Amino acid sequence: MDLKTALTLVAVVLAAIPVVPVDATRAHKEFDVPAIFAFGDSLGDAGTNSFIPQATARADFPPYGKTFFRKPTGRFTNGRTIVDFIAQKLDLPLTPPFLEPHASFTKGVNFASGGSGLLDSTSADDFSVPMSAQVQQFAIAKATLEKQLDAHRAGSLISKSIFLFISGSNDLSAFLRDAQLQQQVNATQFVASLIDVYQKSLLAVYHAGARKAIVVGVGPLGCSPLARASNTANPGECVEVANQLALGFNAALKQMVDGLRAALPGFNLVLANTFDTVSAMITDGKAFGLDNVTAACCGAGFLNAQVQCGKPVPPSLPGAVQDFCRRPFKSLFWDVLHPTEHVVRILFNMLFTGDATAAYPINLRALAQL
Ligand SMILES: *[C@@H]1O[C@H](CO)[C@@H](O)[C@H](O)[C@H]1NC(C)=O
Ligand SMILES: *[C@@H]1O[C@H](CO)[C@@H](O)[C@H](O)[C@H]1NC(C)=O
Repeated sequence: MDLKTALTLVAVVLAAIPVVPVDATRAHKEFDVPAIFAFGDSLGDAGTNSFIPQATARADFPPYGKTFFRKPTGRFTNGRTIVDFIAQKLDLPLTPPFLEPHASFTKGVNFASGGSGLLDSTSADDFSVPMSAQVQQFAIAKATLEKQLDAHRAGSLISKSIFLFISGSNDLSAFLRDAQLQQQVNATQFVASLIDVYQKSLLAVYHAGARKAIVVGVGPLGCSPLARASNTANPGECVEVANQLALGFNAALKQMVDGLRAALPGFNLVLANTFDTVSAMITDGKAFGLDNVTAACCGAGFLNAQVQCGKPVPPSLPGAVQDFCRRPFKSLFWDVLHPTEHVVRILFNMLFTGDATAAYPINLRALAQL
């Protein structure tokens, strides 16, 4: 074999070897999202409050968690939260609570805390972690990552990660309960004060390097079993003033998202609309396979909303028995405030693949592919 033939052979052999990407372990992954950082309230909490002894909002007892985890994990539903569904879709482990001892932060961290709000005052009585403290915890997590990975790699990880925010419901509910506060500020002013905190929190993570973030709007708060049961004018009906406040907040969120996208170059911010999907479920549950869209599946008393799921029934509620929820996939609500895992999955799917009415201006799939 002469040199020319040999070289040709080498070239042919080389051409036959497939080009292997530098990071071969990544090659099969559709999404290059290394981690998720989650902030907010019980809708995102992965067990934070279980590590706070005094926290009053808790879900660390049966039958919370029973459908998916088969044990309580501190999540305020029968299975996974929207943060968990995102993690699984992106081939990531479920994000551990920041407060969990020895938790690894390299695939993400969860700061969300049940009962918390955007305002510190919302968390004052229940020992939950308010948004301002969650953002401070993120700074600690970032410093830890910089030590573990070095600053450059930590920065790259943060810029590719998804930041999810789900907050506001508890602030709005606190406002609706507080007649004195309502005399001092009107709904428009109160919503503006919430947006101010939201904006500062998003700016903080942007300046820390975040480039992909999702803000989840609030649902129809006035139609929770708790709100329906507390409706003294029309027992069992939705509380319209609460739904109007939620809509006002969501409209302000959209303005905030537009403003931040315009002002912050490279910040890919997405607004998830859960209000319309949950409202559609309330109007026509059957279309979503739901038999009951008014009552908590688990709890006791009127609409199962007078006793928290899993808590003993007090003698002051004669005849009431704890309903442990046999068919959670047929119910919109798991407990007095929180949707079942089945419904969370539907909301996740809307966020992941929905059009701009569900995920604005792009959906999670498009965000993760950026
Ligand atoms: C709320 O208060 C502000 C400031 O006093 C006022 O400009 C605004 O019109 C009020 N909004 C409503 C809906 O009452
Ligand atoms: C939903 O469940 C509650 C509590 O079990 C019950 O009172 C109500 O009638 C149910 N609604 C429907 C439409 O089945």
